[in-house]
Amino acid sequence: MTRIVVVGSINMDLVTQAPRFVGPGETILGERFLTVPGGKGANQAVAAARLGADVALVGATGDDAFGRQLREGLAMEGVDLSHVAQLADSASGTASITVAGGENQIIVVPAANARVTPAQVERAQTLIARADAVLVQMEIPLATVEATLRLGHRLGVPVILNPAPAQKLPIDWLQLARYVTPNQHELAILLGADPDEDFRTLMQRAPCPVVLTRGGEGAWYREQGEPIHQSGFNVEVVDSTGAGDTFNAALAVFLHEGLAAAVRKACAAAALSVTRLGAQGGMPGVHDVDAFLAQPAG
Ligand code: RIB
Ligand code: NA
Repeated sequence: MTRIVVVGSINMDLVTQAPRFVGPGETILGERFLTVPGGKGANQAVAAARLGADVALVGATGDDAFGRQLREGLAMEGVDLSHVAQLADSASGTASITVAGGENQIIVVPAANARVTPAQVERAQTLIARADAVLVQMEIPLATVEATLRLGHRLGVPVILNPAPAQKLPIDWLQLARYVTPNQHELAILLGADPDEDFRTLMQRAPCPVVLTRGGEGAWYREQGEPIHQSGFNVEVVDSTGAGDTFNAALAVFLHEGLAAAVRKACAAAALSVTRLGAQGGMPGVHDVDAFLAQPAG
């Protein structure tokens, strides 16, 4: 069984589906409201678990009602929570999300996620040492992201860095990642480059292998030489929230099949995830991905 460790955030997503986005000072009537589990770390952990991996999460919740619901949800998905701290004096992370026309706007309040420490990562060393891959994103303190990259590198375990939400990072951190998985906008910010610069040029300038997501247009990947394109899959988009998380999880789970196969499956898994509302709604199981890819159009 593939073993994955995820170091990252756990949020309650407060999702409003609306006919369109609001402007400042404006009030409109929405269509639907949902309170559903999210957070990039938790989403990646759940997606990897549904794809059949043995998954442990390093993170934190508050000791509040959201925190309890979030832990219960993760436990039901089979995620190992022994390295998820429950902080008595903190709220759980939240994300206020508006979904309109398949697109989203998100405001994240990190709360407990801002207190996921490098020491927690060190304490998970035994788990990380036996993992096939580690996933880390940037909704937790950067010192903890750095500690994850350094520990994975020291132990020879591939770390996939999903640089979202984007910030510029030191070059030597990027060199510690096995793959960095930005979208186009995140890659420019990560490298401190001009956002209008061609993403293929930026991929070639990155100091590490890059797997770049392009929404419905699929993904581009590069270890050396020219970037290679994997086409996206045509689906009806209900909610793209969490598509990147599903992509990253699938990439980690299927990496042992080779990069090209893993990217193809990751694109398929992400496509399936956007057909349902909520970050974790629509995240496929391994058989769903295989069945989808076996379709004539796949
Ligand atoms: O990547 C999607 C996630 O970003 C949402 O679930 C939300 O919690 C934000 O963290
Ligand atoms: Na979804």
